[in-house]
Amino acid sequence: MRIICIILCIASLSPITSSSSPYYSRSHHHHNSESYSYLCLVLGLCSGSSNSHYSGDKLTTVYQWKYLNYAYDSAQQMQTDYRTGNLVPRKPAPIDVDVYYDRRFGHQKVFVTSPRFQAGVPAALGMVVLDRNGEPYVKPYPSWGWHENPARCNRDRIVSVYRIEIDECDRLWVLDNGQLDENVICPPQLLVFDLRNDRLIHRYEIPRDQYQIDSTFVTPIVEVKSRANSCRNTFVYAADCVANSILVYDMSKEKSWVFKHSSMYPDPDWANYHIAGESFDIMDGVLGMALSPALSKEGRKLYYHAMSSDTEHWVYTKDLQNQTATENAQIFNTYTGRRGTQSAAEAVDSDGILYFGLMSEIDVACFDTRGKYGRNCPSTDIVARNNDTLQFISGMKVVRNPRGVEELWLLSSRFQKVANDNIRNNEYNFRIMKGNVEELKKGTKCQRGGYPGKETTARGAGPVIFPDNNRKR
Ligand SMILES: *[C@@H]1O[C@H](CO)[C@@H](O)[C@H](O)[C@H]1NC(C)=O
Ligand SMILES: *[C@@H]1O[C@H](CO)[C@@H](O)[C@H](O)[C@H]1NC(C)=O
Repeated sequence: MRIICIILCIASLSPITSSSSPYYSRSHHHHNSESYSYLCLVLGLCSGSSNSHYSGDKLTTVYQWKYLNYAYDSAQQMQTDYRTGNLVPRKPAPIDVDVYYDRRFGHQKVFVTSPRFQAGVPAALGMVVLDRNGEPYVKPYPSWGWHENPARCNRDRIVSVYRIEIDECDRLWVLDNGQLDENVICPPQLLVFDLRNDRLIHRYEIPRDQYQIDSTFVTPIVEVKSRANSCRNTFVYAADCVANSILVYDMSKEKSWVFKHSSMYPDPDWANYHIAGESFDIMDGVLGMALSPALSKEGRKLYYHAMSSDTEHWVYTKDLQNQTATENAQIFNTYTGRRGTQSAAEAVDSDGILYFGLMSEIDVACFDTRGKYGRNCPSTDIVARNNDTLQFISGMKVVRNPRGVEELWLLSSRFQKVANDNIRNNEYNFRIMKGNVEELKKGTKCQRGGYPGKETTARGAGPVIFPDNNRKR
């Protein structure tokens, strides 16, 4: 493994000045009489495996934070951010994760978002770096400059990001919703970075007539249709959880359009969340989305659900790609079965198994998309359960590692504590976890051949035709 060494000044902020506080965080760093301290270190930007803890179940914790720390270039920069309120300890909350396995150097880069839905978040997107104690920090990506003074709406800006996606063309797609607190202050935009050189290769500002003043673009899903012509033939599906719509972006034509449908709306019956003994209210529309593999002759399906709901839906992406179909409600399908709780993020593996977090049960569930969706169906099961580590799963990806093994990566947090502003810094509040997809499925109804209603089809042995019995109009 190649290690790139970089020199960084890291800030260790302690929001509580007195060490007698019951919430005082014992850290590796020295705390002086000021409420912060810092160290300049040589950091190794290296594989997360050096910081792994086994969490029970089949998921491993790759990184964990009591509260999010950023890797500053200098102590002065960190002090300025702290003094001006640009950095408020305990405010930043990581939401999404994706990992880039750099084939040239054999190392992994783990990306994390921290949206600016409240003040005190100095950067909305970064890469995880470790200090010499193995403590993880967020190093803003592609640089600090992109995140500074967001209200100025500079050309090279990242204002706020909930979710990202890395595609098979070594590209990082960033959906910047342009919001500070809850107001859109700059046009929302899609940014594309080439991960081989960290350069911006594409930018698309969403036209003003395709978003509302309170629109919140939360999730981008990328479908590369062809790798020819530098992967220009790509579509992006972007969920807007406040306008309750999905924006479709055609990269080759640099055009976008919007689909709105009742299936993308939140359900008031599911606006209240109970997680680990705490409650909060969120009324969010379409947020969780995942793209199926091309298993059917009809092409790929986009699965989606409103966050405040217990239903699941799907649409063929070929229908979303048809700009003249935006008035056609017939293309959207709803499973009759119910989840029985809310869910945020979801992801699909190459065998067509959908993974998603369950809010009140604190589980990771699976669904064999050849079968019927819903609680206690023969095609749904639980792959991991942990009340301590899996409290609110806001980010989830299936990634193929360099050995060809598919991994499920997820970001879980005590989001109920972020929502209620009672984060305790004596416990781990945020975790990035991963597990081997085959091991997660083993012994569950989502194991290949595990769902009795499905034809046994080895991967690559021919197309699997999805039954149409879930189609409801
Ligand atoms: C696009 O959508 C329109 C309206 O629903 C439909 O008439 C047309 O056949 C669709 N085109 C394709 C290529 O599917
Ligand atoms: C996890 O939480 C559920 C629901 O609150 C509870 O029924 C279960 O006993 C808990 N399990 C453990 C191991 O704490």
